[in-house]
Amino acid sequence: MTNTADIERLKREAAQILAENRRTGHAAWNGQDYAYVVPSAGSYPFQWFWDSCFHAIALTHVNLGWAKDEIETLLKGAQPGGFIPHQILWEKDRYPEAAARQSEKFGDRYTSSSIQPPVLGTALERVFRATNDRTFLKRCLPPVMAFYGWLADVRDPDGDGLIAIIQPDESGADASPKFDPLMEFPKNNDDLVRWIEKLYTRYQPLRFDDRAILALDLFNVEEVLTNTCYILGLEALGRLCEGAEAREFAERAARVQRALVERCYDAAAGAFFDLAGRAETPLRTLTITSLAPLALPGLDRAIVERLVAHLVDADEFALPFPVPSVSRAEPTFMPGNARGFIWRGPSWINSNWLIGEGLRTHGYEELRRRITDRSCAMLLQSGFREYFNPFTGEGHGSRNHSWSTLILDMIER
Ligand code: GLC
Repeated sequence: MTNTADIERLKREAAQILAENRRTGHAAWNGQDYAYVVPSAGSYPFQWFWDSCFHAIALTHVNLGWAKDEIETLLKGAQPGGFIPHQILWEKDRYPEAAARQSEKFGDRYTSSSIQPPVLGTALERVFRATNDRTFLKRCLPPVMAFYGWLADVRDPDGDGLIAIIQPDESGADASPKFDPLMEFPKNNDDLVRWIEKLYTRYQPLRFDDRAILALDLFNVEEVLTNTCYILGLEALGRLCEGAEAREFAERAARVQRALVERCYDAAAGAFFDLAGRAETPLRTLTITSLAPLALPGLDRAIVERLVAHLVDADEFALPFPVPSVSRAEPTFMPGNARGFIWRGPSWINSNWLIGEGLRTHGYEELRRRITDRSCAMLLQSGFREYFNPFTGEGHGSRNHSWSTLILDMIER
């Protein structure tokens, strides 16, 4: 077990990283003030959607004012129709190189045209519960509700309740091998980038018209992690709203959850798989996202047990520094960041946080504590890196990565 002095050290370092990675100022491009945390000062110098949701949750343990700023700054990216972008490039002109990467440059000049897993409802609820600030809640609820409305209106063209993503990085697990069959089986990250550039060329004339983009059926994936976060967000809104609105969000959450179980759960595998294209072809690679629905409080006990069985299986996810992003049994599993790929095997703190939430909800406290403890061990050994080798705990990707401070929430909950 991690000792008290080490825990205190992690808490200090986490608070310091959040403070150092915080950016405040006034943007000339939209005339707005901003105050938010960048995912990492070097690699990711803008505001990222689901990162900010995680930062807000971590910040509830550090500075409640900053936690509120994080959400409110993200909401400044909301468009009149409800859409909230995956990236807001507040200080774009200072970072031309970072701004020239694929999804960063594909959108409006200062916002991407894509989404990321909708953790926003959950983050809003966590910040509200920590602050009890009703004025803040009142300000935030309308754009957050509108965003979940936009998702249902625009991203569910077949009306089955599940929302679809239009490019791999909308899943947050950008280069996951589960998408390989849709991306001409990239052999390295350069192949992947080339494939995405081709996709953008096809999307270019339809930019911001997501209905038309989905109709092309080039990358139209009902993704499990995205829909899990969507359900959790709708449930949170059900608790934050009142009267008929509250009931409506709770019903929507239940409907999407039914659809997720009916359509994406594979009883033989005991895991959830994404559905690709209008044909809804299951993408049968066992990855961390296959287990994400564990975070849903209303999931059937029998399914919960099947998901947990994967987590404790040493041939799949129970590695020395869990939880790997891909099951070790998959031929595509890569424990390091070989060939520049991400999300092909390493462990990430944000997915550990989500799995930990599920374990707590379903009463697996001992396993949750083990994952928290091993997460502390890899941070102590390697620092707050972006992701970690699940066998050795070696750190990879950016340093002082902000969402790795979610360890604060994993320790305190
Ligand atoms: C990587 C991750 C993505 C995250 C971004 C910033 O692209 O795959 O999920 O939002 O980094 O941390």
